[in-house]
Amino acid sequence: MTHSIDYRGFYIVFRDISRLVHSTSSVDEVIRLAVSKTAELLYAKGALMRVRNPDTGEFEMAAACGIAERFLNKPPVSCRQILEDLQGGEKVRIFRDIWAAPRTDMPQQVWDEGVRMLLDVPLYHDDELLGLIRAYISDAHEFDPAELDFVVSLGEQCACALNKARLIETQRSQYNRLILQTEKLSALGRMAAGIAHEINNPLAGILLYSSNMLKKALPDSPFRQGLEIIVRETTRCKGIIQELLEFSRHKPPKKCPSKINEIIEKALSILDNEFMLRHIKVEKRLAGDMENILLDGNQMEQVFINLLLNAAQAIDKNGHITIESRMDTCHRMEIVEITDDGCGIAPMDATRLFEPFYSNKSTGTGLGLAVSYGIVRNHNGQIKVASKLGGGTRFTIELPVDGGSGIVARERGTLHGSP
Ligand SMILES: Nc1ncnc2c1ncn2[C@@H]1O[C@H](COP(=O)(O)OP(=O)(O)OP(=O)(O)O)[C@@H](O)[C@H]1O
Ligand SMILES: [Mg+2]
Repeated sequence: MTHSIDYRGFYIVFRDISRLVHSTSSVDEVIRLAVSKTAELLYAKGALMRVRNPDTGEFEMAAACGIAERFLNKPPVSCRQILEDLQGGEKVRIFRDIWAAPRTDMPQQVWDEGVRMLLDVPLYHDDELLGLIRAYISDAHEFDPAELDFVVSLGEQCACALNKARLIETQRSQYNRLILQTEKLSALGRMAAGIAHEINNPLAGILLYSSNMLKKALPDSPFRQGLEIIVRETTRCKGIIQELLEFSRHKPPKKCPSKINEIIEKALSILDNEFMLRHIKVEKRLAGDMENILLDGNQMEQVFINLLLNAAQAIDKNGHITIESRMDTCHRMEIVEITDDGCGIAPMDATRLFEPFYSNKSTGTGLGLAVSYGIVRNHNGQIKVASKLGGGTRFTIELPVDGGSGIVARERGTLHGSP
């Protein structure tokens, strides 16, 4: 016996599912509707749906309708078993002998419930099996090919809705995690700035008194060496505190038309000694056609010093640094690239470079790049890094010539590959 096809009923179910694909972002809502509509469409006694848990890979019971409670407490099924069950590759599987159907632990009870036939619809999205709907049908009958075709389309729509809802849920949870992380970082930043402020004054006192005592200590005084250590270490602490305060202060840039090549030259001259001591050769390739650009010269000089110093530290001794400036007339950008042949950065570390306090140096505070990133962003520019572990690093700074009015700064990129 075959049912006469209720095309109007098909259309309504299809419409409901299609609407859901576009409107919902809730995985649960998709699952519930898919199960109830499948049962409705097939005049089934009930239906249930297993959905693949992306973390475990197992297919877990997700929703059911119209069947007794005791059938619902089924354990998860492994992905391997489900794939074995679906080996035939059919888009719909019909089981007329419920004793022979896979995953039927209690066939007698199923029979006693009045079920005479089972129908499985796998939910594939881009060849990935996301779930499986099983319909429990009370009267054994033949299905019209058009009816089965429709069930397949329904499965495809459900898989599509499920996939979309999953993506949205993942994005939402990533976004929430990011917000939480940002809030934590900002609270931590405020706390660090508060502590730094409190420590700054006593440190200044220690430095003042110890420096005075050192000046007065005779060359052969037994206190001299100890005092020297106190002065040196206190000076180091003051430096760190100063950087921390600078970082938390968020000074808005005081922009005026500037020549970027002059700022680069100034930064290089400050680090001359550092390069000489480390036997580092610096090659300058500064373009002659650089336009005047709206910049806070002091802040930008700090960026170049941070990047050049990092490059020198990555080389340690005997190496090359190239600093290049050029105009991108098309996008009205000035570009500065600093390339070194130092130790390079591992891909895992590259994602954390701009985080405050990220450092792999015993004496580093890990604020150099975080500060530089903030300054470049305040100029509506962007800073990118390309690096290869053991193969050197290149930092690229892009700055809009006209101060970037109306230009939204793009996200920083962390490229990988050879510099
Ligand atoms: N050119 C580079 N080559 C290799 N690693 C680099 C380079 N520039 C930065 N890094 C890595 O990024 C980390 C963070 O740099 P950042 O300048 O923020 O802090 P730091 O140099 O460690 O300390 P400081 O606050 O004193 O600058 C460094 O510790 C280093 O591991
Ligand atoms: Mg640094």
